[in-house]
Amino acid sequence: MSVQSKSCTCRNETEQEKYDRIAEVIEEYRDTEGSLIQILHMAQGIYGCLPLRLQQFIAERLGMPLSEISGVVSFYSYFTTVPRGENTIRVCLGTACYVRGGKKIIEKLREILSVDVGGTTADGKFTLEVMRCIGACGLAPAITINDKVYKQVNPDKLPGIIDQY
Ligand code: FES
Repeated sequence: MSVQSKSCTCRNETEQEKYDRIAEVIEEYRDTEGSLIQILHMAQGIYGCLPLRLQQFIAERLGMPLSEISGVVSFYSYFTTVPRGENTIRVCLGTACYVRGGKKIIEKLREILSVDVGGTTADGKFTLEVMRCIGACGLAPAITINDKVYKQVNPDKLPGIIDQY
C-alpha cells in the first residue's frame, strides 16, 4: 500500500477563501464579550495583516464604524496593516539591553537584512521590530526571533543566528 503525503495548500488559498473564513469567524464570535480583539487576531492570522479593506469588511459585518476598528488596530502594536515577514525579529531596547549594545544589534541587523526597523525584507523572510524589556536583563542584550529568545547577543553572532532561518 502506498502512502501519499498531503502537502499543505493553505498558502494557495484565494482572497475570497480567506474572506469567507474571516466571515465565519465573525459569525462565531460576534456575540461574545470583547469579541472585536479576538476577531481581529484571528483575521490577522488568516489574512496575514489587517489592511483597510479588511477592516472595512469586519466593520460592515459587525455593524460598527470603521473608525472604531481602525482605532483598535492602530492602538495595539501586535496588529499590522501590512504583511509581516515569515519570521519576526524583535530587538529589546529596554534599559539594560540598550546600555549593553542593543542599538549596535539593530544597526547590524539593518545591515545584514537591508531593512529598517518596522520593515520587512524584500524576500518576505524577516520583519525587524524593537520591543521593551522581556525580563532577560541579566543576560542583555536580548533579541527574539518568533518565540525563541536569544541572550547575550553580540553583532558578530547575528549572521549565524539569522542563517538558522
Ligand atoms: S532590558 Fe532587555 S531584557 Fe530587560
